[in-house]
Amino acid sequence: MPRLNCVTAMGFTLLLIIILSYNAHAAPETKPNIVLVIADDMGWNDVSYHGSDQIPTPNIDALAYNGQILNRFYVQPLCTPSRAALLTGQYPIRYGFQGLPIRSGENRYLPLQMETLPLKLKQLGYNTSLIGKWHLGFSYRNTTPTYRGFDYHFGYWTGLVNYFDQFNSEYYSGFDMHENLFTAWQFQNEYVTHLLTRKSKEVIDKHNYTKPLFLMISHLAVHAGNEGKSLEVPDIDENNKRFHYITDNRRRLYAGMVRELDESVGIIVKALQDKGVLDNTIIIFLSDNGAPSTGIYDNAGSNWPLRGEKETVFEGGVRSPAVVYYAKLKNKLPINNRLMHITDLMPTLYAVAGGDVENLETMDGINQWDVINEGEGKSVRSSALLEIDEIGLYSGLIGYNGHFKLINDSVLESNGDFGYDTGHENNPPYNVGSVLSSLTNRAINSGLTNDKIKKIRNELTIRCAHVDVRSKPCDANNMCLFDLINDPCETTNLVKKYPHIVEKLSAELAEYRRHLKPQSNHLCDENSNPIRYNNTWTTWMEEQ
Ligand SMILES: *[C@@H]1O[C@H](CO)[C@@H](O)[C@H](O)[C@H]1NC(C)=O
Ligand SMILES: *[C@@H]1O[C@H](CO)[C@@H](O)[C@H](O)[C@H]1NC(C)=O
Ligand SMILES: *[C@@H]1O[C@H](CO)[C@@H](O)[C@H](O)[C@H]1NC(C)=O
Ligand SMILES: *[C@@H]1O[C@H](CO)[C@@H](O)[C@H](O)[C@H]1NC(C)=O
Repeated sequence: MPRLNCVTAMGFTLLLIIILSYNAHAAPETKPNIVLVIADDMGWNDVSYHGSDQIPTPNIDALAYNGQILNRFYVQPLCTPSRAALLTGQYPIRYGFQGLPIRSGENRYLPLQMETLPLKLKQLGYNTSLIGKWHLGFSYRNTTPTYRGFDYHFGYWTGLVNYFDQFNSEYYSGFDMHENLFTAWQFQNEYVTHLLTRKSKEVIDKHNYTKPLFLMISHLAVHAGNEGKSLEVPDIDENNKRFHYITDNRRRLYAGMVRELDESVGIIVKALQDKGVLDNTIIIFLSDNGAPSTGIYDNAGSNWPLRGEKETVFEGGVRSPAVVYYAKLKNKLPINNRLMHITDLMPTLYAVAGGDVENLETMDGINQWDVINEGEGKSVRSSALLEIDEIGLYSGLIGYNGHFKLINDSVLESNGDFGYDTGHENNPPYNVGSVLSSLTNRAINSGLTNDKIKKIRNELTIRCAHVDVRSKPCDANNMCLFDLINDPCETTNLVKKYPHIVEKLSAELAEYRRHLKPQSNHLCDENSNPIRYNNTWTTWMEEQ
């Protein structure tokens, strides 16, 4: 017997040595590449995997059906705060970044001492690129992307540009397409979604994958351009033909913009496959906030049947389409219903890249990797702060194990808006074949079937009764309480029914309010006026 034990032990030791040396050998190659695709102002109902037949998004849908749909993924209600939350893992109220986005010409930027996701990934050996929108400040040179953690940036510093002439004209008007610190006039008039896709593909093609790649593709699509050029498509005649069944002219243009975004996703996935790195790449798709269906940058997007829009904390403003695709995910369940917030991406991706989240600064974000990869167990997040805007006078918090949302809103006139009800037009039926034959699905090639698509899509489609009561504001005290599990469309205010829940969530909100750093929005600095710099937006504080 002792002899046998000895032999077993020896065999075990040998096995251990083999495993260890195998791991040591494999370790440098196992860090996954990360490709993060962010749509701008895209509505809940503007990805067709959520159930709308109006605008087909076969590539994004294929990514979703082949991957994992993060079905309760929350973002901030506006651009700058959402992007700040994503890159820092911290709620914007902690550094005065809640409320309105940075206006071009406003001397405001992400606080310089704050660590960003690309910076932390660089420390873990990643090469980091940002293609597209920044919108976290550019008054000084060291506030621009290549000083905040990105090795490379191609794109724009402001919040939006026109799709062809690439001007930003929020207040002053100037050209805004940059390659690192340089103005990139040579790309003017190339349709921005095509341009950003081409540049992203270049990064993917040129990269030496002995180093892992972090690529953030931050699209202009489907944000509206400046007034007068708000909705632009590459070919308007072709677009009118393709979307002839959409009667509203603006919605038809928007559909064309969504289509370009969808094709971009297909091109990126295929580029990764052609390069042989798709299987070792985590791809994430999301929007920075809901679609604005009224107001200045109304893009004709739709958050239906969710209530509210961009710049509100109703579901339509903050519940984002979100997908993660990774061939090596252990959890193969297509839908993940656990509560997540955009601040979670920083610690989650840092962890998956091999970092120890203990090394991160105090985090509001939570590492969700086990929840995504293992798919088991309870949600690790029980509440999420959606916003406290002490100037816009609205705030919102999800709590009670993600079950209820409290809203405190003093300016509630327009919050019944949710954009187009896209179910009422003469839409063609959902084309499963086009999902199967999409670039994305062909690149992934994992045996997705017709039946699986239909089953997932049916499960994802939110159906709500009582839609007519939605334009009702909250009660006389401006408070709303919604049961998000049983009433995702926020039709029934439960403030009177559950006073104890209101009390608990109010206390939680008040606690956050104690930590709020006031907003520091400035007027536009006249020294930033692009007229001084050959009609371009530049790092004007540096140039003086
Ligand atoms: C990262 O990638 C960029 C762009 O491809 C390249 O210019 C740069 O040399 C790389 N940096 C490192 C540290 O590998
Ligand atoms: C990629 O990087 C590795 C390590 O730095 C280097 O040995 C190799 O030559 C590079 N490959 C190419 C094609 O540049
Ligand atoms: C609701 O918001 C207002 C101002 O926005 C604030 O003064 C008030 O304390 C808030 N109420 C609760 C219960 O949080
Ligand atoms: C100034 O702007 C024009 C386009 O309006 C561009 O062609 C030219 O190259 C720019 N000049 C410099 C010095 O950047």
